[in-house]
Amino acid sequence: MKTNNNIILITGGGSGLGLELAKQLYSLNNKILICGKDRSELNRVKELLPNISIFKCDLTRDEEINSLVESIKNEFPEINILINNAGVGYKYDFITDDNALDKTVEEIQVNYLAYVKLIRLFLPILTLKSNAAIVNINTGLAFVPMSSLPTYSASKSAMHFFSRSFRHQLKNNNSKIKLFEVLPPVMDIKLAKDIHFYKLKPEKVASIIVKGLQRDRYFMPIGISRILSFSKNFMAGFIEWYLNKI
Ligand SMILES: NC(=O)c1ccc[n+]([C@@H]2O[C@H](COP(=O)([O-])OP(=O)(O)OC[C@H]3O[C@@H](n4cnc5c(N)ncnc54)[C@H](OP(=O)(O)O)[C@@H]3O)[C@@H](O)[C@H]2O)c1
Repeated sequence: MKTNNNIILITGGGSGLGLELAKQLYSLNNKILICGKDRSELNRVKELLPNISIFKCDLTRDEEINSLVESIKNEFPEINILINNAGVGYKYDFITDDNALDKTVEEIQVNYLAYVKLIRLFLPILTLKSNAAIVNINTGLAFVPMSSLPTYSASKSAMHFFSRSFRHQLKNNNSKIKLFEVLPPVMDIKLAKDIHFYKLKPEKVASIIVKGLQRDRYFMPIGISRILSFSKNFMAGFIEWYLNKI
């Protein structure tokens, strides 16, 4: 797909992979809109990339999601790309952690429900555009559960299965919207700070994603995620055993 002259919303664009995608797509002459919970982080990005538009939005709250979509539809009706990137992942013990239920609810809200809600709310406007795309940022852990992140994998698996079903429905409805699913490897950023594994720089992962978008790679496992997705039918048992040891 064409990766310049678009209007692109990146959720969680204030840090990590979302910020790297924002920087690289900004330099390709796209209008970039980012949203996040933390206003000071958004303001810092605005200082760095002055032409960016920032929206404060807590994706666990329906009223904030609705008002984000309304503001964007009013201010940027030509929006044609949604990058669902915001994510949370908690390393915890489901049996002993007093906040286990709050953590699992938040992961499902941010990693799954917010993605699906934004897709549903932007669908009518994206359907009208000729170069429209939805990019869901997922993870190789959608295929293999890691016991130290007991509910993260579950939320990401839900997203993976939704993406697959939704792709069929887009096709059956003759939709021109392109759906991408990206599975980054472990990256050297906040969300993976407690995972001790070989990590790729988010800049590198973002540049692979941009090239993948240009080449219409609709399913984009990167690094270790390629092995996880390939082996889900072959070596899944062994990998699950290994992941639960580290
Ligand atoms: N890090 C990895 O190794 C790794 C590996 C595979 C896949 N991924 C996926 O890559 C994506 C980006 O993660 P990252 O590693 O870049 O993590 P990150 O640096 O922690 O960034 C996550 C972003 O999500 C936003 N976010 C979280 N909760 C939110 C909420 N309730 N409302 C609005 N925004 C919210 C955060 O914004 P605020 O700071 O404003 O809350 C932040 O900008 C995620 O979907 C993650 O699952 C990451």
